[in-house]
Amino acid sequence: MSGSKQLKLGAFMRPVSIHTGAWRYPGALPDANFNFPALKRFIQKLEQGKFDAFFMADHLAVLNMPINALKRSHTVTSFEPFTLLSALASVTEHIGLVATASTTYDQPYHIARRFASLDHISGGRAGWNIVTTANPDAALNFGLEEQIEHDERYVRAREFYEVVTGLWDSFADDAFVRDVESGIYFDPEKIHVLNHQGKHLSVRGPLNIARPVQGWPVIVQAGASEAGRQLAAATAEVVFASAGNLEMGKAFYADIKGRVRSPSGGRFAPSLGRDPDSIKILPGALVVVGETVAEARAKRVHLDSLVHYESGIASLNSALGYDVSHFDPDGYLPEIPPTNAGKTSRERVIAMAQRENLTIRQLAQRIGSYGGLAFVGTPQSIADEMEQWLIEEGSDGFNIMFPFLPEGLNDFVDKVIPELQRRGIFRQEYEGKTLRENLGLTRPANRFFQTATTSVR
Ligand SMILES: Cc1cc2nc3c(=O)[nH]c(=O)nc-3n(C[C@H](O)[C@H](O)[C@H](O)COP(=O)(O)O)c2cc1C
Repeated sequence: MSGSKQLKLGAFMRPVSIHTGAWRYPGALPDANFNFPALKRFIQKLEQGKFDAFFMADHLAVLNMPINALKRSHTVTSFEPFTLLSALASVTEHIGLVATASTTYDQPYHIARRFASLDHISGGRAGWNIVTTANPDAALNFGLEEQIEHDERYVRAREFYEVVTGLWDSFADDAFVRDVESGIYFDPEKIHVLNHQGKHLSVRGPLNIARPVQGWPVIVQAGASEAGRQLAAATAEVVFASAGNLEMGKAFYADIKGRVRSPSGGRFAPSLGRDPDSIKILPGALVVVGETVAEARAKRVHLDSLVHYESGIASLNSALGYDVSHFDPDGYLPEIPPTNAGKTSRERVIAMAQRENLTIRQLAQRIGSYGGLAFVGTPQSIADEMEQWLIEEGSDGFNIMFPFLPEGLNDFVDKVIPELQRRGIFRQEYEGKTLRENLGLTRPANRFFQTATTSVR
């Protein structure tokens, strides 16, 4: 029994799908990246299914893959998140709108303004996915010759977060008195000038926007490294994990919740000691639904077969850190010697090949499509797995990736959601008005003004 535990569900919206072969699947919408009417239908369907949030990734450069893989991928391009989410805010009422924004290539004053605006426009539904931007090509689009070193990007991110949240607190919630009689529009005692001077940033403030409806938009993070996990533990309210299986999920969950509890977080997080319930861990999960498990597996096999070998093999070589392209694609993996490349990804791939008896071609298509956590089965078997993750503290919910759209999204909302609701592990109705309320997160107090609790709206 899961008791009162409830799943939280985000929708990971690469509009065509995360799966590289998806745009070729029968019935898929290959042009969904820039098809606004389709995106409108997708988000309205998600809202019908009571999803917590629509999540929009952002990469600031075309993905850095070899051109032979890139030319076959729909994941190359997508809308700028704020433009899209502002438009989607006006055709929805409840669902959260999470935009990705980079602390490496943007300015905190810009970011604070955009999220405050989205939060007001949407009536308190904005979330900020803080990324430090791993793609080295992004540096070349922003006047740099090379990217800032990994850990230093996280040092900047921590300072950036302090500045942005400080700017959101520029006005007390009740600063705008708008007293027609006296002619006072706002109370000058209730405006704070940040005057931030730090290692990476210098920002005077105040922000020229009223405090966001949620106080602060919900803070989301997806860092996997030591520095990334520390930033998540110190600042995040939602973590997008990339756990490959339940065992890895549990280890990640215990690690992050442990860091959150810990009174000291090291260089990236001087003081934590937060309530572990104030951070929701949502691994990304590809969900393929069928009438039977066999039918769902067949869909997955069909999807993977649509990934061209040329692009699959490039991804497999990079995951293994070893070139296997000169071996017979229809034979099995040779012995892979240890290399300097990531050990975790090499071992995961070799284990997958052995477990599922995959040839090099099948493995390349799997890794080149989407190699992460996947639930492939019937609504019941998928709900069983999700419930197990919830009960065994593998996660607090999932960031759902649809295998192809619209069918994969419709299947999830029409078939899996009712099964989760029947088991009492997912909401029948939205609990509150804001993303924060629906996620069960408290509204942060204004750090400069103690008393105010109401919103300025
Ligand atoms: C579900 C998920 C979504 C992500 N979305 C983005 C994104 O939109 N933009 C981006 O630059 N990085 C994105 N990332 C990458 C992370 O921000 C991070 O760089 C990555 O997990 C590696 O961790 P590290 O930065 O701690 O090394 C995402 C990661 C995950 C797991």
